[in-house]
Amino acid sequence: MCIPPTWRRVLSGLSLAWVVAQAHTPSASTTSSAQYTLPASVNEAPGVIPNIKDPQAVNAQTICPGYIASNVQKTNSGLTASLTLAGEACNLYGTDVESLNLTIEYQTTDRLNVAIAPTYISAANETQYFIPPSVAAKPEVEESNLVSDLEFSWSNDPSFAFEVTRKSTEDVIFSTKGRKLVFENQFVEFSSALPEEYNLYGLGESIHAFRLGNNYTKTYYAADDGATVDVNIYGTHPFYLETRYFTESDDGNHTLVTANETMPDGNYTSQSHGVYSRNAHGQDILLQAGGITYRAIGGSIDLYFFAGPTQPKVTTSYLKAVGLPAMQQYWTFGFHQCRWGYKSWQELEDVVGNYTQFGIPLETIWTDIDWMLRYRDFENNPIGFGDAPGQKFLQRLHDGGRHYVPIFDSAIYVPNPTDSSDAYPVFERGNDTGSFLKNPDGSLYIGDVWPGFTVFPDWLSDGAVPWWTDEMVRYHNITPFDGAWIDMSEISSFCVGSCGSGHLDQNPVHPPFALPGEPSNLVLNYPEGFNKTNATEAASASSALASSSSAYPASTSTDTSIIRTTPTPGIRNVNYPPYAINNVQGALDVSAISPNATHADGTLEYEMHNLWGHGILKATYTALSAVFPDLRPFIIGRSTFSGSGAFAGHWGGDNWSNWPSMIFSIPQALEMSLLGIPMFGVDTCGFADNTDMELCNRWMQLSAFFPFYRNHNTLSAISQEAYRWDSVIDASKSAMAIRFQLLPYLYTLFYHAHTKGHTVMRALAWEFPNDPSLASADRQFLLGPSILVIPVLEPSAKSVEGVFPGLTQGQETWYDWYNHTAVSVSSRANTTIDAPLGHIPVYVRGGSVLPLQQRALTTRDARNTPWDILVALDKNGDGDGDLYLDDGISVQPNATLTANLTVHNRRLDAVINHGGWVDGNVLRNVTIWGIENTDNKVKFNGHHVHQGNVQFDKIKKTLVVSGFNTSAWAGDRWTLEW
Ligand code: NOJ
Repeated sequence: MCIPPTWRRVLSGLSLAWVVAQAHTPSASTTSSAQYTLPASVNEAPGVIPNIKDPQAVNAQTICPGYIASNVQKTNSGLTASLTLAGEACNLYGTDVESLNLTIEYQTTDRLNVAIAPTYISAANETQYFIPPSVAAKPEVEESNLVSDLEFSWSNDPSFAFEVTRKSTEDVIFSTKGRKLVFENQFVEFSSALPEEYNLYGLGESIHAFRLGNNYTKTYYAADDGATVDVNIYGTHPFYLETRYFTESDDGNHTLVTANETMPDGNYTSQSHGVYSRNAHGQDILLQAGGITYRAIGGSIDLYFFAGPTQPKVTTSYLKAVGLPAMQQYWTFGFHQCRWGYKSWQELEDVVGNYTQFGIPLETIWTDIDWMLRYRDFENNPIGFGDAPGQKFLQRLHDGGRHYVPIFDSAIYVPNPTDSSDAYPVFERGNDTGSFLKNPDGSLYIGDVWPGFTVFPDWLSDGAVPWWTDEMVRYHNITPFDGAWIDMSEISSFCVGSCGSGHLDQNPVHPPFALPGEPSNLVLNYPEGFNKTNATEAASASSALASSSSAYPASTSTDTSIIRTTPTPGIRNVNYPPYAINNVQGALDVSAISPNATHADGTLEYEMHNLWGHGILKATYTALSAVFPDLRPFIIGRSTFSGSGAFAGHWGGDNWSNWPSMIFSIPQALEMSLLGIPMFGVDTCGFADNTDMELCNRWMQLSAFFPFYRNHNTLSAISQEAYRWDSVIDASKSAMAIRFQLLPYLYTLFYHAHTKGHTVMRALAWEFPNDPSLASADRQFLLGPSILVIPVLEPSAKSVEGVFPGLTQGQETWYDWYNHTAVSVSSRANTTIDAPLGHIPVYVRGGSVLPLQQRALTTRDARNTPWDILVALDKNGDGDGDLYLDDGISVQPNATLTANLTVHNRRLDAVINHGGWVDGNVLRNVTIWGIENTDNKVKFNGHHVHQGNVQFDKIKKTLVVSGFNTSAWAGDRWTLEW
């Protein structure tokens, strides 16, 4: 077997570094043998200078020739043409492709595809250019000879360029004019002009402001990093939404305006469109003044333009193209408690008991890698997590209406071949079915994650999905879990290359850094901002070690070299591509499996890296569909790709227990909303470092309005369950009371997301598209159309600044959730709102009709509580809302109920569509906010309501009607008049 170059480098440092650095006997271990700690140098590689930061980098536009289009043919759905190199090849960051095919397809009335790919693509090299449709959805032509508002045009002046124009307004939404197309085997560049100060959103996953701005490079290379601002992190979603604001003159001409927070009131309109670049390769997307530039290290140009012209229309069309979000089970909207460091079933039971004792709702208890025997998937640690006690505990948990979700890691331990007691049948079964990634020479690719040297499932092999499914089924037979938490799926590896090859006799090796809490670990003590330059678990921990004078040896690597690759004609250098993307890890093989890891069909990780996390989510969806036939799989994953929301939710990963992490959770959630992963939340109270009472108080309240609501923290950090501080108990209960009342609303929003591609968490800019002052607003948000949340995001604050869209223009009414009265402010700009600790400002939009239920300790019990209807009247005294109910668990429920609620002319009409689902809970109250007067002659279904059941508060302008003595959704309709 040839020794991979990376391993040779490690070997050279071996004499000193490959030693027993420290004998660890992890608590999870049942053996007393000492563990080898890998030296930090296993995760070091020669550096690269990212092209965008390299003073010597050559701009392809200055030397490459571009292309000339010819042979243009009309087709039923668009046109095709040939593109030929317009001059001498530049071969700058690869080998220029001489001839390309251009295909234009008008796929639906509002979706246009522009595709450019080499003519020489064959079955053998296809994945170098195209993402297989079986891996990620490929939008196709759905109608022919259709009429679209989008128009494709092209010219050869001076070389091939194209434009996409919105015909109705003549707006050019994408234009490559004046910029050359560069298409090499390892470098594809194209750019479009954009208006000055453009409003672009999306291009996730990132830790960045909601509006992306024009001084930002979005890099895609899935990385084990969850908190570093402006770098590549876990997910890859090359989709953006652009919104343009206009003023309109009397003669109908519209003029583009630049949005800013302080612009004056005016008569504005806006139009939005979307652009999805279906390319999964490593890439930089440069947002610069005047334009956007795509630079990918492979793949093709496969662009999808979505006409909109509103954000909801763009989102709906995009999500229909890549995959509508999965419907979630009702219980998943309850509160989830997790931590790294729960050591036994008993500890879990104690935590659950404490929540009950303090009267705080808890739906689901989670375990991190602590449940595993030596961090190996699918094997319980008999110490603390024995099979039989687990079954008894889970029985009690389930009887109480609660749930359990364990973590599953992406990497699979490889047993030590020299130690028969180290058998690991999970690996053997996967290996027997050819389910793991290989080295180019056909041997297993062996990296390193928590358990030691590990292999990685190959989702392109025939065996992997059935094997993973079988393991999930087997494990569920032993430990009846309710959902799956998928981690480390970038895919993360703590060493460069196949570092375990030839070294399995050392297994189980300890990662090349200390876990939080292990001796000499400095990670938790690092100052804020440490993560700004390098926050990966592996890299941050090893650099912490390297800079310490601990018992651990610092890295012995003296390799400070920089690799600049000169392209070799026709040969791809996948580990060090000639164009260096701005990868947070430096070289592509640091803290991730190497780009030359090889899939069963010959495809390289180079092409698939950004899709691996999507692959495991799809595989887990299949697996859980086998574990729980007919039930909606509940999956929370880390690395995602466009369309992953159809299979899973996502959490924000390794944030920090600090205020900036809490602030960034809002733009991150809005971004995920736009990208079709509405089931999103972050580690509430913070993951790394110790939280504190005030931060946890504010954060427990904020996350109560995110769809996925989980408290999680790292090993060794202080405990941060909601009951640890008196004030956090109260704050959590008060925010959860609102969340529980809104559960039917949240569930209905998800139903609309799943069936129609609506968003759940919403940006102000989307709900108020004609107010350009909201273009960047990301410190407050809406849940659906009706609930406005203005959280405190700073320490020591007693108030918060917020805006109430549309209020001063007389278009909107906002009601304070707590005192039920309409907000009155004099300015369109920021208003100071009282927000002492424990109070999160929440407002209901006038015009909303919300069916509410009550707080309980679990969603099961909440679903058995009475119904209240909240009517928040708009300025005309109108309103509407709806409700969707079913069994809350089935993929295809055989019984449903929908209700439409409308208010007009002092009358509420509830129209109920019975699809077989019966909800017998009574109608308790109907509350109307914003009612000026009443003669108290309230009628329900035409009959006067007894005066004793009618309460009108003239000062607050609220009317509460009760005493209905009927179930809320029994008949076909009911009416209430006042
Ligand atoms: C990384 C995950 O992001 C984090 O949530 C988890 O606690 C650790 N891995 C340990 O499993």
